[in-house]
Amino acid sequence: MSTTGQVIKCRAAVAWEPGKPLVTEDVEVAAPQAHEVRIKIVATGVCHTDWEYMYGTGKGMKFRPFPLVLGHEAAGVVESVGPEVTKFSPGDKVIPLFLPQCGECERCLSPKTNHCRKNWANTQVGVLADGTSRISCKGQQVYQFLGIGSFSQFTVVPDISLAKIRDDAPLEKVCLLGCGVSTGYGAALKTGKVEKDSSCAVFGLGAVGLGAVMGCQVAGAKRIIGVDINPDKFAKAVELGATECVDPRDHSKPIQEVLAEMTDGGVDYALECVGSPAVMTAALESTRDAWGTCVIAGWTEREAMSVVVEKLLMGRTLKGTYFGGWKSVEDVPKLVDDYMNNKLKLDEFITHNLPLDQINVAFDLLKSGKSIRTVISL
Ligand code: CU
Ligand code: ZN
Repeated sequence: MSTTGQVIKCRAAVAWEPGKPLVTEDVEVAAPQAHEVRIKIVATGVCHTDWEYMYGTGKGMKFRPFPLVLGHEAAGVVESVGPEVTKFSPGDKVIPLFLPQCGECERCLSPKTNHCRKNWANTQVGVLADGTSRISCKGQQVYQFLGIGSFSQFTVVPDISLAKIRDDAPLEKVCLLGCGVSTGYGAALKTGKVEKDSSCAVFGLGAVGLGAVMGCQVAGAKRIIGVDINPDKFAKAVELGATECVDPRDHSKPIQEVLAEMTDGGVDYALECVGSPAVMTAALESTRDAWGTCVIAGWTEREAMSVVVEKLLMGRTLKGTYFGGWKSVEDVPKLVDDYMNNKLKLDEFITHNLPLDQINVAFDLLKSGKSIRTVISL
């Protein structure tokens, strides 16, 4: 029986208030409105940003209301489309996007940026274009994290925040391209433009950092130095292309000095994948003068990093990246192709698979550093 136009009742993990475990509930998902697509989520990764929103202390996050459905790194199948949707049909395999690509604005028309701002203010506070969400629970509106809310068996997203991918893509793997892996991979390849035979340092070896290691390897970097205070991460980093790994706690000197000695003056590229202002400063200072480039991929809303201006005056470049610099709608299908062609790895990132009602276990694994990515099946 077709569900088109009907409210769908399904299961979702609802975050009722910050700091409390998620609760798996029966929810109702409304039909898509104009330029919206309702999707059946098949698999979703659990990302550090989901945890940060629930349990972190980010000042800038306080305006985001509860209750909400978290989750923004997912893949699924189109169930139905709203009026005026032309690019999607029921049955299409898709990846929802927290960064839209409307294709029409000044930014979308420029090759210089991926920062489309269509619907931005709304999706940042968990609602769609009309200012409401499509998910409700016990008669109450439930917000959709970053305009997605993938910890639900169904959700509704704008048609400019959705990438159509090939039919043979395994959704339980390519869901990781919705956030972490793409961010790190693009930080190296797209934003950093890492060159062949260069030396690189990747700070933080979680999903974003490992994505960056992989990007450096694909770019043909000669040395890829993984940096993390958890040596348990080193084996995976080497598997994905790191040529050596360093634990800053094994050294009495600051890590930037250790790296400068290892590379005879500093690395050509440093990629910060932690989201710590102190690590950002160390990353910048680990690059060599004259042409070193530091790319910030880690997320923080909390503090400022300190920059010694002279470091920039001596020829270093400091850049930030968001979603790896990828134009979301057009580039995510290409990243799926890279995976299908064995250029980009994803299976290695998946350390755990769990059902939706174990979502709090997935958060514990993430926070304790025991997982790279847990994939939740819905
Ligand atoms: Cu994320
Ligand atoms: Zn746009």
